[in-house]
Amino acid sequence: MTTIPAVDQIAPLTSDQVVQFKRDGYLVLPGVLDPERCRSARDKMWETLADGLPRMKRDDPATWGPISDEESERLAAKRPSGGGEPLLGGKGHRFYIRNGAEQDMLDLSPRALWRIAEQLMGADTVVWPEGADESGMTTGPCLMSDDAVGGLVSHMGDRMGWPEKGTFETEDALKLPKNGPVWLNGQGSRGLYCTLPNSPSPGPEYRGSHSDGACYGRWRLQFAAYIDDLPPNSGGFTVWPGSHTRIWDEQWEAYKEGEKHTDKHLTDRKAGGYSDAVIGQIKVDTKPVDTHGPAGSVVLWHTKILHMAGQNCSDDVIRQATIYGYLKTRAALSDELALDNAGGDAWRDWSDELRAASID
Ligand SMILES: [Fe+2]
Repeated sequence: MTTIPAVDQIAPLTSDQVVQFKRDGYLVLPGVLDPERCRSARDKMWETLADGLPRMKRDDPATWGPISDEESERLAAKRPSGGGEPLLGGKGHRFYIRNGAEQDMLDLSPRALWRIAEQLMGADTVVWPEGADESGMTTGPCLMSDDAVGGLVSHMGDRMGWPEKGTFETEDALKLPKNGPVWLNGQGSRGLYCTLPNSPSPGPEYRGSHSDGACYGRWRLQFAAYIDDLPPNSGGFTVWPGSHTRIWDEQWEAYKEGEKHTDKHLTDRKAGGYSDAVIGQIKVDTKPVDTHGPAGSVVLWHTKILHMAGQNCSDDVIRQATIYGYLKTRAALSDELALDNAGGDAWRDWSDELRAASID
């Protein structure tokens, strides 16, 4: 059954934009989100800060300094009783707000972009973000690979009784509290990821640059959406154009040779997502792009693209992004196929329209 979101839909991509996305692995849509919803998300962010970090004043950027270790520990101690992480957390120049499964945050971006997600990934093949129910719980599918189980442990705590190793089978109705890692069952975004002004340089090695998670699994299309104006060089999602298919191909090859994304004991990792040889090569031969735009801008990206949160060189801008990944449903993509790139085509699980787009 086709899901019809109750929120206004952002216009579908033009054929040129589809080609651009396929070729570059990312696409910027300037100022497409509803301005009122963006404003409301900013207001809520400041309410959360007023509660947890009251020394930060909305009208005084001089108070937006980095989060001290003491502040960080104090925030980390406020774990919600329902499980998961504190609503507000952070360290140094980064803070996050775990509100990604709230209905207003879902309406703001993942649902407003629903038609585009279906345009790129295929109609009726994408997991719908239902978000938290009245009890604060979310329910959705999760392929229980080692890295997914690792994410559950690191974000939920190890008292939940998760096994150490994944089953590599999809759990159809994984229940997670709204403050938990709700991106794993497709029910929420990562909330708000923010970078405070004057953040440190990542250095010539682009410290922190990575490709998300494993090649196997259900994620295909992801996005970062800015709820406030984001000028250039102010911490925007930074991306290496064209790196998506290179990493995709290389990681599948490594997986077929027996290496899992989580095999940290290996000295020479080909699919860890941070220091893979192909990633080193991409950093040498490709110039990264800093994405930016007015409030409501969205950056769509292929889940395997090399990226990082950029350095925020501004004095008076907080980079405020919400990040979401669309999952393929089990009905559209069996576990067998989610764990295999049979056919070797990076676009096997995408829409006919995208597959047909010519990038030569
Ligand atoms: Fe990432």
